[in-house]
Amino acid sequence: MTQTCASRAAARPALIPVDIGHAVYAAVTDPDTAFWALVDKTRIQEEVSAGPLLNSYREKAESFAKELHALRFELTPSGVYLNPTERCNLNCTYCYLPGEQRSKGSHMSQDKLIASLARLRDYFRSVMPEGRKPRAIFHGAEPLMNKAAVFAAIDAFADDFAFGLQTNGTLLDDEAVAFLTSRNVSIGLSLDGPVAGITDATRQTWSGRSVHQQVLAAMDKLKGYGSWSVITTCTTENLPYLTQMVELFHAKEVPTCMLNTVRCTLPGARGVKPADADMAKAFFAAMDRTHALYRETGRKLMVANFANIVIGILAPTARRLMCDISPCGGGRAFFALAADGGLYPCSEFIGLPRFNGGNLHAAGGVEAALTSEAFRPVITRNVDQFSPCNGCAIRHFCGSPCPAEAAEMNGGMDKIGAFCDFYKEQVNYALRLIADGKANDYLWDGWDDDTETTFLMQ
Ligand SMILES: C[S@@+](CC[C@H](N)C(=O)[O-])C[C@H]1O[C@@H](n2cnc3c(N)ncnc32)[C@H](O)[C@@H]1O
Repeated sequence: MTQTCASRAAARPALIPVDIGHAVYAAVTDPDTAFWALVDKTRIQEEVSAGPLLNSYREKAESFAKELHALRFELTPSGVYLNPTERCNLNCTYCYLPGEQRSKGSHMSQDKLIASLARLRDYFRSVMPEGRKPRAIFHGAEPLMNKAAVFAAIDAFADDFAFGLQTNGTLLDDEAVAFLTSRNVSIGLSLDGPVAGITDATRQTWSGRSVHQQVLAAMDKLKGYGSWSVITTCTTENLPYLTQMVELFHAKEVPTCMLNTVRCTLPGARGVKPADADMAKAFFAAMDRTHALYRETGRKLMVANFANIVIGILAPTARRLMCDISPCGGGRAFFALAADGGLYPCSEFIGLPRFNGGNLHAAGGVEAALTSEAFRPVITRNVDQFSPCNGCAIRHFCGSPCPAEAAEMNGGMDKIGAFCDFYKEQVNYALRLIADGKANDYLWDGWDDDTETTFLMQ
């Protein structure tokens, strides 16, 4: 039996075998087009050298290549990360936003925020199809520290944007929850541990006070709301507790969480970076636990960052997050607005002035930033063009995140990011789930409603 799914090629495209650590199946893939198929391990040579799979793939390879090219090079932005303030009431060990800004920075005034959203609305109207709203996520540093301006902006532009708000949860009182939920704003919280002692290791106030209980209380307030999620940033401090973390989220009826690897752009993050093998072991144990909980209760806890990897394999263009494709989504699918009006490819770059593409309110605004020299290294970072990614079979399922991290931690945009071996293992794990017929259990119900099968062989 040959299981397969599709994706995208060139003149005599070839398939290469990949050992995914499965008892029965191996993958064969054309890394150039992100095409892959699962084949019986005992038949790899036949499958890659001749036969129906290779022939059928060759017929379709060009269309797969075009589809992947469109995803990688032909998008225009449809979302913006907004930083209505530089300030945060927490001092998380690993934060990618500079401490000086978080402790002493400024708020964006309400008038400036309203004027910014008006400019952004006009920009998105010029590039997006009519009837589709751009996403605007209030994301940093702690948006609720500038609550009055944020809430005024949400009301003023309710018809123009699909809003989201990412918060540490400490200022999410009943009134804020009522405001945001009544306007269908998606809400993201952050929590790093199943118990206070673990959360406190990385997420505390500037004076060292625990916020764990406040976040749990915020989670209780959101129970039953359709559109909320929690981010856990995975570090040396909480890795042994990831399984308990997903148990807590499932018990609290969190619809979606993210178990993100810590981005090592700034030095503070590197001090709590887990080793790749440890990250893989803990992450897969947590994923296995979400599956067991789903089987026990019939209720899924979506782990969005992993679901995105699985979808990126099954149906590349149905991806929702754009960190695991190259070039990444920064400056292509979305961009970030800093509290001083500065435009950056992604929030991850806000602490790195050389990636400032200009000011939203200056002549040229967004268009000028998108074509600026500051954005160019991010927008053109291409895994086909540097080693070792250009020789890697899974480069278009991984994308070699993240450019900010590669540049700051490893010395250049043409370098890998912090978790190369983990990402490889993650793709193998996802392929094993697909081989075992379990992948749908890790995905949003209806994820494939709008997707088209472009290649099917059995
Ligand atoms: C920068 S915060 C801003 C919003 C809000 N203050 C909060 O805590 O959710 C957004 C998310 O980014 C995460 N984050 C910050 N620095 C990170 C890093 N170096 N790597 C990965 N995630 C990071 C935080 O833990 C949080 O979940």
